[in-house]
Formats: sequence, structure tokens, C-alpha cells
Amino acid sequence: MRKPRRLAPDALQPYVWELPERLRGRWGDRTKADATEGEPESPAAKIDWPTLYGNDHPVEIEVGFGKGLFLVNEGVANPDRNYFGIEIIRKYQLYAATRVANRGLPNVKTCCADAKIIMREFVVPGTVTTVHVFFPDPWWKNKHKKRLLFTPEFATLTNDVLKRNGQLHFVTDVQDYFEMVTETLRHCPGFEELPQPPEPAPVHDMDYLTNFERKFRKEGRPIYRSRYVKVERI
Ligand SMILES: C[S@@+](CC[C@H](N)C(=O)[O-])C[C@H]1O[C@@H](n2cnc3c(N)ncnc32)[C@H](O)[C@@H]1O
Repeated sequence: MRKPRRLAPDALQPYVWELPERLRGRWGDRTKADATEGEPESPAAKIDWPTLYGNDHPVEIEVGFGKGLFLVNEGVANPDRNYFGIEIIRKYQLYAATRVANRGLPNVKTCCADAKIIMREFVVPGTVTTVHVFFPDPWWKNKHKKRLLFTPEFATLTNDVLKRNGQLHFVTDVQDYFEMVTETLRHCPGFEELPQPPEPAPVHDMDYLTNFERKFRKEGRPIYRSRYVKVERI
């Protein structure tokens, strides 16, 4: 895939949501600090979606968007929905934000930080219609396990930010990860599994969910997909 033409910070700014200055680096991208450490010194101001997007359309979050194919395709296809992407690596955020800016998609914003922190500290509970998690890093090595995204804590955070009847959409190529997530969600009150729609057949090279999906499907690897709906916690 061709690298998008570099844009000036001013041109990217409408497609970027920045952490407040005092928290950048500490809670932000992994190039600067361990993003999972640190507790808030004072409560952060929550994101007001209608102010951010200038409308009250439903908001979907994508966690770990990588090069941003999903955000771009969905942003173009659904101008009446807002997309908020969270990516921990700055160079990917800038790459995806550039693609979004080149298409002029006001309904897509990107942010560079640990998704757990953003969901816990900055998202108003019960305001998001869908959370998408596609091909999260498996972090095979034990010493990297603390970076694993989909923990019971993440499941609870996801449940908290979703509206009632909101959905979680999870896709991976790693069977063990899929089974671990299925087990985690089975024990997380407030989620019910939904039937999985048939796997779509891509008609061209951009017609995939994400870059990783394209790579793995072309390699003929199995892909594991699940959807959950938020229900009343008992
Ligand atoms: C294997 S890549 C998949 C990228 C994209 N979803 C795809 O399918 O093409 C996983 C992505 O999640 C990002 N990531 C990992 N942990 C994260 C976290 N705690 N918060 C936000 N992004 C994270 C990584 O930087 C990486 O870009």
C-alpha cells in the first residue's frame, strides 16, 4: 500500500483528539512512556461527543486501529455515524489521521493513547453504540503479558462505555486469544453473544475490515469473529 502524502499538523488537527497536555507521554503513546502506568492526579474532563463532532450521531470506538482501513472505509460509508479510533503508537495514529484527512471525513477522529485509559477516564459511561477490537496483539511472551489488551478489566470498561443494546465486535486470527476472550465475556455480567453474520467476500483490495484481515485472509488463515450485545447486569 502506498504511504499517504505527509500533511501539515494544521491539516491533521480536525482529525486528531489530543490528551490534555499535562497527561501526554505519561498516559499517551508507547514511544514516550509505559502507557498503562500512573493514576490520575485529578479527574480528567470527559469527552463530550456532540461538541467533538458537532452533531449527536451515534459514536463507535475502534481500539488499536493500526493503519486505519476500518476507520476510513466506515467513515466514508456511514456519514451519519461518528468514529473514534484509539491507537497507542503515534506513527500509526498519524498515518491513519492522514488517510482520514485526505478524504476529509469530519466523522472520524483519532487519538494516541492506551485505550484502557481513554475508556476509563475520558469516555462518558453509556454513550457508545459499538466498540470494535480487531486483531489485538497476542503478546505471546510472558514478560509482555501486562500489555495484553483484552483482560477482564477491559471487558468491564467496554461494558461501561456502551449504551444499553450497544455492541462489542471482536475479531482475531489467534484461536487461543479468541477462546480466552469468549471465556472472559462468559464471566462478565452484562454481555450476551449474538449470532455471527456470514463472512463477507471482499471484491477489491480495500474491501477488507482491516489491514491484518487482508493479510491473513490472503494467506488463507482462519479468522475468529464474535459479536456481543450489552444487556442489563444481573
Ligand atoms: C496487531 S495490530 C492490528 C491493527 C489493526 N486493528 C488491523 O487489524 O489491521 C494491533 C494494534 O493495536 C494497537 N494497540 C495495542 N495495545 C493497545 C492499547 N492498549 N490501546 C490502543 N491501541 C493498542 C497496536 O499499536 C497495534 O496497532
